[in-house]
Amino acid sequence: MSVTDRCNLRCSYCLPEGSQVWLPKAEIATLEELASLVRVMTLVGTTKVRITGGEPLLRRDLPTLVQALAEIPAIQDLAMTTNAIPLPDLAGDLRSAGLGRLTISIDTLQAARYKTNTRRDSHGKLLAGIRSAEEAGFTPLKLNTVVVRGTNEDELAALLRFARERGHQARFIEYMDVGGALNWDPALVVPRSEILHRLESECGPIKALAPGDNSPANLFTLSDGTVFGIIASVTAPFCGACDRARLTADGKLFTCLYAADGLDLLGPLRAGAAEEDLATMVDGRWRSRDDHGGQDRLEVSERGPSAQVPDLLAKPHLGMHTKGG
Ligand code: 5AD
Ligand code: SF4
Repeated sequence: MSVTDRCNLRCSYCLPEGSQVWLPKAEIATLEELASLVRVMTLVGTTKVRITGGEPLLRRDLPTLVQALAEIPAIQDLAMTTNAIPLPDLAGDLRSAGLGRLTISIDTLQAARYKTNTRRDSHGKLLAGIRSAEEAGFTPLKLNTVVVRGTNEDELAALLRFARERGHQARFIEYMDVGGALNWDPALVVPRSEILHRLESECGPIKALAPGDNSPANLFTLSDGTVFGIIASVTAPFCGACDRARLTADGKLFTCLYAADGLDLLGPLRAGAAEEDLATMVDGRWRSRDDHGGQDRLEVSERGPSAQVPDLLAKPHLGMHTKGG
């Protein structure tokens, strides 16, 4: 669930400067409405919630929402993906409110590269955010790295060591052609096979672990027991096994990251629909879903960005930052 489409960074693979329109404020669901939509999802079987953005920590009073979600009995797992910049002020409150797990994005250990990629000089704040997450007890963290050729593929072993030294789990993500990735080009994707090869040459032999839950990550281990993940969403899309539904901050249900349109739940909620009625709508949408965007994109010849600037300006829901970047 995305709680805001706003972000304090401008990662070039997600939200390049000038490529977005923001969702109108009046259309953003209140914290109460967001909690209500999560209750609706639990009526059709949802047990795990991941809070995302944009940058979710920009949403005012977020710990209040976390507490409301933590109190829903059906929710067994409550996690958040963040860029960690605002974390020093919030980590303790989020922990007391009942947030279970944190995933933090860290694409580089080099401040200058971070500045180039995110357009903000905030690498020191990212490291401070990671420290505050550790101090608040969110360990182990998942540390996400989107691998983009020419920007960070020479740092994979260093990032893995960084995670290992702190007892966290590194996860390397293939660069996806989602909406917002305007510079995407097949040549910039570092495939899982190459990620493994690069890590093996610096860190020694790697073994694949048996697939566990429905997580999109393939897990691997080094000979010292260090576990890390690779999310091969481009070269080996996992659409067939995907069980994720996405809620946008304006209360639309998307059943695929690549989908252009979602099912509006906030409109009916504001018009007085009961949570049970919304659950029936969600159930119908889920049963009839036939999207497999990642798989479909494999068939595209001369594959390039999935959306251009005019598309993104006309349809904010195409953007990764709206659907959960
Ligand atoms: N490719 C892969 N992952 C992306 N994210 C955003 N844009 C992309 C992209 N083009 C994901 C990453 C990041 C999170 C916030 O959003 O996982 O860590
Ligand atoms: Fe970067 Fe995440 Fe913000 Fe997108 S939503 S610009 S990936 S920090």
